[in-house]
Amino acid sequence: MPAHKIKPNIYFVGTIDWDRRSFDELIPLPQGTTYNSYLIRGNKKTILIDTVDPSKWHELIDNLKVLQVKNIDYIIANHAEQDHSGALPYVLGDYPSAKIITNFKCKDFLQALLHIPDNRFITVKDGDTIAVGGKTFEFIFTPWAHWPDTMLTYLREDKILFTCDLFGSHIATSELYAENVPNIYEAAKRYYAEIMMPFRINIRNHVKRIEGLNIKLIAPSHGPIYRQPSFILDAYKVWISNNVKNEVIIAFVSMHGSTRKMVEYLVDSLIKRDITVKPFNLTKTDIGELAMALVDAATIVIASPTVLVGAHRPKAKFAAIIGSYGWSGRMADQIKDILSGLRLEILDPIIVRGLPKQDDFKALDKLADEIKKKHRELGVIDKVI
Ligand code: FEO
Repeated sequence: MPAHKIKPNIYFVGTIDWDRRSFDELIPLPQGTTYNSYLIRGNKKTILIDTVDPSKWHELIDNLKVLQVKNIDYIIANHAEQDHSGALPYVLGDYPSAKIITNFKCKDFLQALLHIPDNRFITVKDGDTIAVGGKTFEFIFTPWAHWPDTMLTYLREDKILFTCDLFGSHIATSELYAENVPNIYEAAKRYYAEIMMPFRINIRNHVKRIEGLNIKLIAPSHGPIYRQPSFILDAYKVWISNNVKNEVIIAFVSMHGSTRKMVEYLVDSLIKRDITVKPFNLTKTDIGELAMALVDAATIVIASPTVLVGAHRPKAKFAAIIGSYGWSGRMADQIKDILSGLRLEILDPIIVRGLPKQDDFKALDKLADEIKKKHRELGVIDKVI
């Protein structure tokens, strides 16, 4: 992506990765991503905020050349993960007097990951500022969003908050601004669900602090820039809250069709009770879709002999286990053990031998009744709490 002017002396100099389809070999990226880097020219100094993935270093350097950047004084590293830091060695090589400004933890990671020498760093503390002639940068530490090193940089005069991963979205787009991207809400929610959701409680505190700032632009390091900060802040406030919806997720695996039969029956049974239900066949599902559903669901049903929910803490209040077995029926106990660390009320499991029979379907109806009762008690029937 060519360099774009955001405001006088402030430029987007990042890159678009149209083809990337997986992140950390774990997270699906159906729409690619961007690695955003920002150049700011103060009266006295030139600053770069974050770099790009190492595979795109040449595009970043090209953008700096097009803008005739002869010298970079400081590179602010908000986060050490390589999609933002990987091009640092190239930039440091081309701009030999540049120093990296970051926190102690991020410096430690950058040195471990990229072997950058000590004398290229200036470390800052939470709340520190650096003024470079008409531009004052304030550093706001936001640990565990989503690594322990993460921080934000607030450019006071222009009221721009550079948030690196926080508030980002994995979406390759030539649009610089979020309001021009029709599916930005879904892209940002997927990003939150895949990356930030396990750190919901930390992020709640960070958002409170951010709301105390006067912000005109939120400029993340993935996806477009928010000219209406309230759009993404309001969305995050819903996602990080304890509120859930009248929704049930059924995560299932079926080997020979018995568990599938139970799932299909329970899906219909819940629909008849006006409960939104989202079944996910874990052998086929896009885990990003499943993660997004976890943001809202009041109940999770696990229907599989071998499926794990995972160690993070979803907001769901209830869980149920259904499934079938051939000769050993301990699956429910094993999954209960796995779920025991989560603050969930576990409803009575329904475990059948072989193909479900009429009585088993009746038991599924009872489970659907129980879920409806629980949702009513929670106050999520027909409204979001
Ligand atoms: Fe976009 Fe945590 O890296």
